[in-house]
Amino acid sequence: MASLRFYSGELVTDGATVAEILAPLGVTLQDYPVQAGAAAGLLQQASLTAAEQEEVLAALDTVFQRLRQERGYQARDLVVMYPEHPDIEANLARFHRIHTHDDEEVRYIIAGEGVFGFVLPDDRQVEVTVAAGDFIQVPAGLEHWFRLTGQRRIKAVRYFSARSGWVPHYSDRPLLPFG
Ligand SMILES: [Fe+2]
Repeated sequence: MASLRFYSGELVTDGATVAEILAPLGVTLQDYPVQAGAAAGLLQQASLTAAEQEEVLAALDTVFQRLRQERGYQARDLVVMYPEHPDIEANLARFHRIHTHDDEEVRYIIAGEGVFGFVLPDDRQVEVTVAAGDFIQVPAGLEHWFRLTGQRRIKAVRYFSARSGWVPHYSDRPLLPFG
């Protein structure tokens, strides 16, 4: 279950309150318990081969098929980050800045943790920690950022309407030094 922290340090752990705070931004969070079946063991591994990633995605295909029908997503892939990943620093540098995308950003966290940051309508900055079972949608054009927690480990399915739509456009707004 996702939790939200204001830059002031105030922590919100009640899911309904987190949803209420994010609602004006159009950000939605849902609980999709991870049911990976025979692929569950793979979620414990730090890294996954391409074949293992496909195995995990196939195990979660009912989620994709439902989203395809309900929301028209055309494609999905799996992001796997862990401390020894050769591109971890480059990836973090790319997204730990305030940015927007032309398409919405849709992530289903299936292992590990991540942090999405947002600017509320009153300009307060907040960070939302997501973990396995959290499904988050960030609308197109909304300023946000992303980073990992101290464990620097995440597995997340990304769903796309159009692959070209999630190139980051950076904002000039300064990001407060959270965490
Ligand atoms: Fe993003």
